[in-house]
Amino acid sequence: MKRNLPNSNLEFREAIFQGDLFLTPPTDQSLKFIQEIKNLIIEELQIEDIRKVHNILDQATFFEKIGRLRRLIYLDKKYQDLTFQILEEWGFNPQEIAFDPFRLRVITPHGHLNPKAAPIYYPHRDTWYAHPQSLIVLWLPLDDLKMEETFVFYPDYFNQLVPNNSEIFNYDNWVKDGPDLKIGWQDPDSGITANYPRSIPNFNGGKTLGFACQKGEHLFFSGAHFHQTLPQNTDQTRYSLDVRFVHLNDIMEKRGSPNLDNRSQGTTLKDYVKVRKI
Ligand SMILES: [Fe+2]
Repeated sequence: MKRNLPNSNLEFREAIFQGDLFLTPPTDQSLKFIQEIKNLIIEELQIEDIRKVHNILDQATFFEKIGRLRRLIYLDKKYQDLTFQILEEWGFNPQEIAFDPFRLRVITPHGHLNPKAAPIYYPHRDTWYAHPQSLIVLWLPLDDLKMEETFVFYPDYFNQLVPNNSEIFNYDNWVKDGPDLKIGWQDPDSGITANYPRSIPNFNGGKTLGFACQKGEHLFFSGAHFHQTLPQNTDQTRYSLDVRFVHLNDIMEKRGSPNLDNRSQGTTLKDYVKVRKI
């Protein structure tokens, strides 16, 4: 994982499109953002030690509350404006980017044993959800996390075909009843009833690349990276935020990561947030 950015934003994007991973330091802005989100979680859950929520609330109640918050964070103009500022700190001109807003994610201890949460742990490329090949993902942890609390990349398969069922994903079907399925987990049964793309069961992705991180660090990676959230039983609930974005020149000039196996249908791009013209 690289710590330093290339000299220009174009070189930064091109490195990401070739599979490079960048983990950059916390900033005042990212720390302020995650603290604000933590405060929202504390308020919603009415629990001070939110990393121990699994010992206090039942899963259904927890997911309902988090679902409400996730929707609020995703749709709130304030956080969309902040997204431009966060990306600007890393060289992205707000006028030139578009994004699918920040989502709050939670991973609970033994969450992988809950069939309704199964899709969280599917190995996948984010592009299989009808995102463009120019997609870049920014992931922000709300806490310092050990390697076993994050996720892994399968670097051998960045440039190799992964057998998968991405053809089942159709963006227009996904949003036909509104944005809730897209935002995630508003419907507690969607993990069982909805179509989430994945590699074929028991596919061996080869060597894994994991990471530990500090709260407020920024992890940038290509939407085409094959990766998977780790099942965990650390007795700590994990919270993170992630945003998917593109540079509009990359769309125009068809720059992006190779597409070896993405057969998802439709495009999320039409619903991305762009800077508002005043
Ligand atoms: Fe992902």
